[in-house]
Amino acid sequence: MHAALRCPTGKPSRVRLKPASAIPCLLSLALWTAPLPGIGTALSDELPDPATCNILGTVDMEPRIAGWCLMIAPNKGDCLACHHVIAEGLPDGLGPSGNIGPALENIAEQYPERSGLVELLNDPGTRFPDTVMPPYGKHRILSDDEIDRIAVFLSSL
Ligand code: HEC
Repeated sequence: MHAALRCPTGKPSRVRLKPASAIPCLLSLALWTAPLPGIGTALSDELPDPATCNILGTVDMEPRIAGWCLMIAPNKGDCLACHHVIAEGLPDGLGPSGNIGPALENIAEQYPERSGLVELLNDPGTRFPDTVMPPYGKHRILSDDEIDRIAVFLSSL
């Protein structure tokens, strides 16, 4: 008998429902449901590492944690290419971060309104003419929702 199983990796796979061939999918299921450090992030100050962000995806995450994951994802914000982030609970296993831009710290002080951060991420050029920081909204690199979540994270710094 055959059955289409959708593994939590998002890859549909057609497997024979024999124990041996179902093992890869069951393994990823086990991984999905295991008590990963990132799942507890709503309860602790720990920020998930890149691998945990990847496995969890950002859709159902608490906005602040989703913002963090979007910032460190190379195919999303990739903010660490240019910025250090100074925050509580930074995970081990982060790649090196860049110093092209200023270290991101005390952001809430500098940008008391979250809308100021959303504007900045949309088009940093309006505040810093000739900046090398990408216009994430204007160039549709990130969606409005993604930018909003990143602004939530930045406001916590
Ligand atoms: C290509 C490098 C680059 C990337 C990628 C980048 N930035 Fe920047 N960012 C800069 C630079 C440079 C500045 C300083 C403004 C200037 O003078 O150009 C800056 C400024 C900022 C500031 C304002 C800091 C202040 O002191 O006012 C914030 C906040 C910020 N970046 C957040 C982010 C976030 C969040 C991301 C990812 C979504 C990001 N940046 C991605 C280069 C970058």
